[in-house]
Amino acid sequence: MTDSPLQMLAEKISQRNVVVGVIGLGYVGLPLSLTFLRKGIRVMGFDVDPGKIEKLHRGESYIKHLSADDLKGFIADKQFEATADFTRLNEPDTLIICVPTPLTKSREPDLKYVEESTRAIAKTLRPGQLVALESTTYPGTTVEVLLPILQASGLQEEQDFALAYSPEREDPGNANFDTSNIPKVVGGIGPHSTRLAQDLYELALERLVPVASTQVAEMTKLFENIFRSVNIALVNELKMLCQRMDIDVWQVIQAAATKPFGFMPFYPGPGLGGHCIPIDPFYLTTKAREYDFSTKFIELAGEINTAMPYYVVQRVMEALNEQGKSLNHAKVLVLGVAYKKNVDDDRESPSYKLMELLREKGAEVSYNDPHIPSLRPTRKYAYTLKSVPLTPEDLAAVDCVLLATDHDAYDYDFILAHAPVIVDTRNAFSGKTTATKQVYAA
Ligand SMILES: NC(=O)c1ccc[n+]([C@@H]2O[C@H](COP(=O)([O-])OP(=O)(O)OC[C@H]3O[C@@H](n4cnc5c(N)ncnc54)[C@H](O)[C@@H]3O)[C@@H](O)[C@H]2O)c1
Repeated sequence: MTDSPLQMLAEKISQRNVVVGVIGLGYVGLPLSLTFLRKGIRVMGFDVDPGKIEKLHRGESYIKHLSADDLKGFIADKQFEATADFTRLNEPDTLIICVPTPLTKSREPDLKYVEESTRAIAKTLRPGQLVALESTTYPGTTVEVLLPILQASGLQEEQDFALAYSPEREDPGNANFDTSNIPKVVGGIGPHSTRLAQDLYELALERLVPVASTQVAEMTKLFENIFRSVNIALVNELKMLCQRMDIDVWQVIQAAATKPFGFMPFYPGPGLGGHCIPIDPFYLTTKAREYDFSTKFIELAGEINTAMPYYVVQRVMEALNEQGKSLNHAKVLVLGVAYKKNVDDDRESPSYKLMELLREKGAEVSYNDPHIPSLRPTRKYAYTLKSVPLTPEDLAAVDCVLLATDHDAYDYDFILAHAPVIVDTRNAFSGKTTATKQVYAA
């Protein structure tokens, strides 16, 4: 690529003189922007949501674990600019796509946001730009969906523009790992694309893992999340058996985890949640059908994990039954609507399914979550509840407390002291049972 537009891009990257464009400034795109900014790289952020752009202009962060102070400084110094003007996509040298990849109502991959972004890029694509997709998707997306859209610009891949896939591995709330120190897999549509994408990310990230193709990189991401989904299903199934056999599954996991090789602990819960694990496996299942292949492990894991909220509600009914009460008309307080502890992210949270099932059985449902003060109606659920306070009186006034998310902010001794009955899906009350009150594992 001597003297080619891509060679010029390589030189700009090596001189750290590139402008990085990030499309989609959500849970993935905003931390990624900050990672480049902190290494002195200029970033232009693009988002279709004018509310987010306005907040960024005011120097506000809408993601809890990201510091607004950092953002303010970068905006004031003009190192970071956020815009909804997509005609400016020709300004950055590299464009990293971090838009949502949800499922349609029929649980098929919905690539409309990725396609929209790529079409917007194609309109202004100029020689010497690198496009990298980070959104989770099925193997083949970069070559089958993005490449033809970009080629329609008349420019030639691997000569005029580079194209790569590099999946995000963000773990919100993890104190040890953030975007900068999580190894990053990257695969290009050809050697120039892989090299350029690797060089770009190396400006800000500690370790890159180059792979042979975009398809390998895409499949790697899905494999990682499917691995979690399958193992969570396995431990959820074991939990239900253990409960029937009167064995404490948490002790079993703790003991098994002492094995120094060949075992990795996964923990049971009320069902899958979050933006990735409940959704991503379907991306592979759908693609596999094109190859007359049925992904049996994924389907089975999905079946077991989907059944978990039903199992938990069954346990609530049993707990109430032992108190001589029925779920119909019972007051149930759900603790935690975030999909995991200590975060403010309620996407795909199993708590919503739990609340729906409890209501269907006639329960009067309230909730508390220190990280989520109120519930907005979503595509799936029409809740308009506000988080209730956890006073001794409020706790004593309900028939059952259902712990769905084990936030550190909860004072478990306090809850136990005042709640009449507790159903615990997270082993948070382990060893805390008193003579008068019962904690039911679920
Ligand atoms: N959140 C995570 O922890 C995580 C981890 C790994 C992978 N991922 C993947 O990363 C991708 C993004 O996820 P997220 O959690 O950041 O989503 P998000 O919903 O937090 O953010 C996406 C952003 O993209 C914007 N957007 C939508 N359409 C757009 C368009 N056409 N042009 C520009 N902006 C647009 C939205 O307004 C939003 O701000 C998804 O594919 C997801 O599966 C997420």
